[in-house]
Amino acid sequence: MRSILFLLITLSLLHSAISKSMLRLRKGASISVEGNTFIISPDNSFTCGFYAMPRSNAYWFSIWFTNSKDKTVVWTANRDKPVNSQRSKISIQRDGTMVLTDVDGSITWQTDKRAADVSAAELLNTGNLVLKNPQGNILWQSFDVPTDTLLPSQILTKDIRLLSSLRKGSFETGYFNLYFDSDNVLMLTSDSPETSSIYWPYPGVNIYENGRTNYNASRRAVLDDMGTFQSSDNFQANASDIGFGIKRRLTLDNDGNLRIYSLINSTGLWMITWQAISQPCQVHGVCGRYAICVYALKPKCICTPGFEVNNPSDWSAGCKPAFRESLLNSLVKFVEVSRTDYFGFDFDFKPNFTLEACREFCSGDSRCKAFTYKTWGAGSCYVKSELFNGLMSPDFPGSTYIKLPYRLHVSKPSFFNGSSTMCESREADILVGSPSMYDFTRTTVRWVYIYSFCGALGAIELIFIVVGWWFLFRKHGVPASVEAGYRMISSQFKRFSYDELKKGTNNFREELGRGGSGIVYKGVLADDRVVAVKRLGDVFQGQDEFWAEIRTIGKINHMNLVRMWGFCSEGRQRLLVYEYVDNLSLDKHLFHSNFLGWKQRFAVALGTAKGLAYLHDECLEWVIHCDVKPENILLDGELQPKIADFGLAKLSRRDGSGSDISNIRGTKGYMAPEWALNCPITAKVDVYSYGVVVLEMIKGIKLSNWAVDDTEDREIPLKSFVRIAKEKIQCGNSYWVDSIVDPRLEGRFSRNQAATLIEIGLSCVEENRNKRPMMASIVQTLMECEDETEI
Ligand SMILES: *[C@@H]1O[C@H](CO)[C@@H](O)[C@H](O)[C@H]1NC(C)=O
Ligand SMILES: *[C@@H]1O[C@H](CO)[C@@H](O)[C@H](O)[C@H]1NC(C)=O
Ligand SMILES: *[C@@H]1O[C@H](CO)[C@@H](O)[C@H](O)[C@H]1NC(C)=O
Ligand SMILES: *[C@@H]1O[C@H](CO)[C@@H](O)[C@H](O)[C@H]1NC(C)=O
Ligand SMILES: *[C@@H]1O[C@H](CO)[C@@H](O)[C@H](O)[C@H]1NC(C)=O
Repeated sequence: MRSILFLLITLSLLHSAISKSMLRLRKGASISVEGNTFIISPDNSFTCGFYAMPRSNAYWFSIWFTNSKDKTVVWTANRDKPVNSQRSKISIQRDGTMVLTDVDGSITWQTDKRAADVSAAELLNTGNLVLKNPQGNILWQSFDVPTDTLLPSQILTKDIRLLSSLRKGSFETGYFNLYFDSDNVLMLTSDSPETSSIYWPYPGVNIYENGRTNYNASRRAVLDDMGTFQSSDNFQANASDIGFGIKRRLTLDNDGNLRIYSLINSTGLWMITWQAISQPCQVHGVCGRYAICVYALKPKCICTPGFEVNNPSDWSAGCKPAFRESLLNSLVKFVEVSRTDYFGFDFDFKPNFTLEACREFCSGDSRCKAFTYKTWGAGSCYVKSELFNGLMSPDFPGSTYIKLPYRLHVSKPSFFNGSSTMCESREADILVGSPSMYDFTRTTVRWVYIYSFCGALGAIELIFIVVGWWFLFRKHGVPASVEAGYRMISSQFKRFSYDELKKGTNNFREELGRGGSGIVYKGVLADDRVVAVKRLGDVFQGQDEFWAEIRTIGKINHMNLVRMWGFCSEGRQRLLVYEYVDNLSLDKHLFHSNFLGWKQRFAVALGTAKGLAYLHDECLEWVIHCDVKPENILLDGELQPKIADFGLAKLSRRDGSGSDISNIRGTKGYMAPEWALNCPITAKVDVYSYGVVVLEMIKGIKLSNWAVDDTEDREIPLKSFVRIAKEKIQCGNSYWVDSIVDPRLEGRFSRNQAATLIEIGLSCVEENRNKRPMMASIVQTLMECEDETEI
């Protein structure tokens, strides 16, 4: 009795929010925007109807994934023109067209084929909305007019292209295209009002070098149910979770990257299982004209020196000259933007050219806006008529010289001067598969009740409502296991099983080292990759927190940071799998007889600074290393430094109770004074430790030996070194550098570099952390004196 009463009350409460689902819309019928009526696919994977953006009263007639948490839209009728939340409707006319009308009756969209014998619209299990005749033949399908998404079995042919959305949270047509070019190659292009260029396959090499062919004129590409995306030009990619039974989509995102997403059953979130472009700055047009994309975890745009941004909230609009262009006809100068290339628009190429000749050529030609000079070989000169797709990367072997009016004052561009980052702009939150960004809860209640079925309030509906209610409870009452779906985040970052690692390390036989957080073993994976496996000794936090932290670390990829390939989390076992770096750590190269020469020391100081600057990047959730010391700086075969053990500070944080990282890590002697003072810990603790390491590299001895008793009367080596060095600098004796640098070098070092490094080291170990520089400005200072050859 009581339960019936409960049901009745539930029903009366629910009825106002109930939506109706139908399997087909018949000719002559319509769905209105207010009606809460949807067409669903027979297996209920897809829903079709009016879709509202969160916090907006504009509606789109769309198809979406029923079971994804944010109701991911895969198709939209006229994405550029939403309809009003009142009196808009979709209907099938007598002539067989499907028509979307707005509040005033105006036609916003309609199917392009007339076929009087259309009987109904249906949504297939594939997500394809079709118009069928009574015999069941398909007369029109949404699969022929995709927007930015291709579903499994949907074929991209020569007449079809995907177009990205303009920005996140909008369906509006953007500038990126996926289509078959007339030479039969599938490509991604950026097609903005100002310029158009191909960025995938990689434009720097020809189609065969890209693994494509152009002889197959069938021009078909399709994502199959296994997760393989295949195109007739010989391109093939596999989702990292390849296999049947997983819902996937291939989407051209608003950042210009093409990605396969897989739906995780348990959470309704998407995981990126493949992407076409690994380095976001390689997408053309991300930063617009006269702007430079800077290599970072998330792309950052800055303006070319002498130019200023058009619209800080939309970098694709690029930058504009901060001077009158007619001034370029009189006296000009060239400003170097180091390690930067601008793709395309070379109106001349001159191999075997000196920098001076290149400069002269450009100043004499009014078409020339800048030239790029590559230093390898005899040097080559690329003369630019336009500046698009600027890319600053530490690996680029050259500079671009910008032609500017002689009197224009410009400051050197800084990758790190974060006055203009893209953190807030449209690209910022689409990157890399962090499920949290899809994790917003919808404010409307409409979706929740879709489990109900058709028609009036009858017994069937009643049962469905109860089932729906139960679903609702089950889905929200039980914490979904975050573990289940996350096998791999991308092909590079993998979850390993314990057995796999046990086997790979030969039952943890060869120990490489041990530290505060655990023991490191050498191993070889099934694919012959040599790895270092770290077994975390502590009892670490729960699986979900562990996973959350690991995900952040797994995204980090920089040449001066040891790459994490994956992890294992089973029961109480927590293991981390790293790339194997074959030389020893810095301390072995510094305090022992086989010490590094000056050039290598400088390179290590610069590389380490670059790695730390990357970790401290303002666009990231800051990663503070907390344990920078020579033992954690590994050297690879070319003696390039790679920082190990970053991100572990956050990992070892215990559950809850607001315990921050302030009391857990650091190695005595390298620890900044604020550790002892209970201050909040900032990235400046790493700067301090870096300073100690730099001074040790200069001096060639350990300065960090900590006085065993903490009494002040015995000065620790670092303090005395700092005091003496400062005195020497103040005296102004020109030989002060020689008296400080490691005598084992016997004077073979660059005075200027040494002086710069000493000054940096001293400023890093300032007691007052506000006086310490940022890692980013250290990198800049060091890069300015990197190429000196005085020995
Ligand atoms: C061309 O591509 C299609 C579709 O991928 C394939 O079925 C066909 O065999 C290819 N033709 C040749 C000559 O390779
Ligand atoms: C994709 O997987 C199939 C087997 O499932 C394999 O034959 C093929 O080589 C893979 N392709 C790529 C590009 O890895
Ligand atoms: C996800 O759910 C579908 C149907 O609900 C099922 O067929 C499939 O096996 C599930 N996939 C995984 C990976 O659990
Ligand atoms: C470049 O110039 C040098 C000397 O001027 C010459 O020996 C060399 O052959 C040139 N290389 C090319 C590729 O022209
Ligand atoms: C860095 O940005 C500040 C303003 O935020 C500006 O005053 C300064 O000149 C910039 N420095 C460089 C090197 O661009």
